[in-house]
Amino acid sequence: MILGIYGSGGAGRETKDIAETVNAITGRWEQILFIDDVAPAGARAGLERIGFKELCGRVPPDTAVITIAVGEPADRKKLAARVLEKGYRLESIVSPLASVSPDSSISPGAVVYPGVFIGPGCVIGGNCFIMSGVAVCHDSALGSHSVCACGVKIAGNCLIGESAYLGLNACVKEKTTIGGESIVGMGAVVMSDVPSGVIVCGIPACIIKNNTEKKVFKKA
Ligand SMILES: CC(C)(COP(=O)(O)OP(=O)(O)OC[C@H]1O[C@@H](n2cnc3c(N)ncnc32)[C@H](O)[C@@H]1OP(=O)(O)O)[C@@H](O)C(=O)NCCC(=O)NCCS
Repeated sequence: MILGIYGSGGAGRETKDIAETVNAITGRWEQILFIDDVAPAGARAGLERIGFKELCGRVPPDTAVITIAVGEPADRKKLAARVLEKGYRLESIVSPLASVSPDSSISPGAVVYPGVFIGPGCVIGGNCFIMSGVAVCHDSALGSHSVCACGVKIAGNCLIGESAYLGLNACVKEKTTIGGESIVGMGAVVMSDVPSGVIVCGIPACIIKNNTEKKVFKKA
């Protein structure tokens, strides 16, 4: 089986390191390569890099699995749909250095970095991206395509909506809901429910604007 890491930027190279650690233990993939539709074909960080079209022409869907390695939730959703539409499966990559409760579930396509804690009763949706130092405490759920940047802390019994983004070191109080497609800014402390489609920042977190662009990273 081939593992394609979709995205060869920073998140892609970090995901590659985790995938190689997993592969050293499990031997799950014969080859790991980058898929990138923007950067030129060639080599990247010691791996082959090709476009998605080229992959489709060269590698049948039953011989490759794909992990999305981009940090923008809207892009994660779009790329996952493209991958599934062509018949490929989404692959989860969970670092062996993450602490994941056996009483939690992780759906296909999720990436879990080293140093992540996922407690009992948690439900991690498909295609989530969970970076280093994140804690998702007992009985919390992350919606599909959502992203937790490094250091995010989600207390118990929280509900994070689909395609939400939680910025570096944000904290979410127990029993709190964050609506789908909302963004929690870096360092925010979320004390009460956040509706869908907004950006909140600060301590305590307050709405600063609507997430009309559906984009976290606005500068090229
Ligand atoms: C919340 C965020 C998405 C807002 O980005 P944006 O829409 O481009 O907003 P702007 O930068 O125009 O900021 C708008 C206002 O909010 C303030 N603001 C932005 N982010 C803030 C934050 N995290 N905490 C407090 N205030 C913040 C800005 O200072 C600005 O205030 P002003 O109008 O008084 O000047 C962004 O600041 C953020 O936190 N991104 C997450 C980054 C991250 O986690 N990166 C990890 C990569 S692995």
